[in-house]
Amino acid sequence: MKTSACFVPLITAVLIGAGPNKQMCGDTADVTDTNPTCKGKMVPSAFEPAFLNISKYIWTGENTVPEANNPVGTRAFRKNITSACGKCATCATIVVAADDSSTVYVNGVAIGSGAGWTTGQVYFAPLNPSSNLFAIAGVNNVARAALMATINIHYSDGTHETFITDESWKTVRGAAPQGFQLPATSDSTWTFAMLQGFPQNSFWGNPALPPVLPLAQSKWIWTSANAATTAPAASNAFRKTIDDCTKVAVCATVLISADNHYKLYVNGQAVGSGDSFGRAEAYSIPKLHPTLNTFAIDAKNDEGPAGVIATIHITYRDGTNQTIATDGSWKASQTVPNGFQETFFDDSDWVTATVVGNYGIAPWGSAVAIPPA
Ligand SMILES: *[C@@H]1O[C@H](CO)[C@@H](O)[C@H](O)[C@H]1NC(C)=O
Ligand SMILES: *[C@@H]1O[C@H](CO)[C@@H](O)[C@H](O)[C@H]1NC(C)=O
Ligand SMILES: *[C@@H]1O[C@H](CO)[C@@H](O)[C@H](O)[C@H]1NC(C)=O
Repeated sequence: MKTSACFVPLITAVLIGAGPNKQMCGDTADVTDTNPTCKGKMVPSAFEPAFLNISKYIWTGENTVPEANNPVGTRAFRKNITSACGKCATCATIVVAADDSSTVYVNGVAIGSGAGWTTGQVYFAPLNPSSNLFAIAGVNNVARAALMATINIHYSDGTHETFITDESWKTVRGAAPQGFQLPATSDSTWTFAMLQGFPQNSFWGNPALPPVLPLAQSKWIWTSANAATTAPAASNAFRKTIDDCTKVAVCATVLISADNHYKLYVNGQAVGSGDSFGRAEAYSIPKLHPTLNTFAIDAKNDEGPAGVIATIHITYRDGTNQTIATDGSWKASQTVPNGFQETFFDDSDWVTATVVGNYGIAPWGSAVAIPPA
């Protein structure tokens, strides 16, 4: 039977994740996530790159000729996106290209700004479970004006849904109204955006996708000095615990590579594995524990050089983010004990990881393939 009504997914204030965390927060009271959060187990998935080439360049329509010059200034664009029936949205990956620049807002909060259309700019934003207001301030400095975005909404069940800028976005034919990005501002009197062109056949063309995350600030780590030359053929374990009682963590994206093999776990749950130091893999972690999260790696060396390198991007409820790189602060063990991946595994007697070198050092070099955003 097909029903017309879409029931809002059942949401509760119960936070699912690593388990009790009060003891880790010491005297500090935990922040609580006042937003409704998604029920159920988090399901990690391989990071799915955006397809900017399916999006459309739009502008206000102040000049009714596509690709023609438009007035200089800041213009408002927005779209209220409702989650698919029965799905609970956690975070979004937003890739934007603009002639000339843009600022992206989600539910009234500024997420990031960037310029240009030859390469898209990538942002990660926290979402509400069932509907989210995406707003973009587009700035035209001179001549033609256009912007385009692809929004990948990640659901708690590990699936995602892609939305693009098109003629269903609302805009104003004139300066961006004060507070245009706020959910409390009504766009009912606004007009619809005008198509300026497609990536395949327009003045602006098809923007390149940036790497999903950088590796350049991350270090190759292992459990012994000299690992860039040689290390025992063995499995080693690495852990990084983020215990921050001041902000609510919502989701994460992880980029990782190892010489020779890794298995990645977040809060005890298996996320993915890889076997090539010439390439990094990226994963979406759609849901984190609000204040206590453990990233654990089982890394195995077959022979010769050994190392593991990762970049973790955490998105917080307030729209801010934090990048965590592999470095000498990670905990390390020359064995992989049972349960090492669990949040409450006691790693207090582990040593800290040995920094083998910065990203770019031999033998791995600076050409590790990174998936696009
Ligand atoms: C968009 O790019 C992807 C990946 O390069 C390609 O598979 C797909 O066919 C392209 N779609 C269009 C509409 O050009
Ligand atoms: C992370 O936050 C900074 C500072 O607000 C912002 O400039 C940047 O675009 C954000 N990064 C992502 C990937 O969302
Ligand atoms: C977005 O749509 C949802 C569902 O229709 C609605 O409840 C919400 O008020 C809308 N938000 C805005 C800012 O229009």
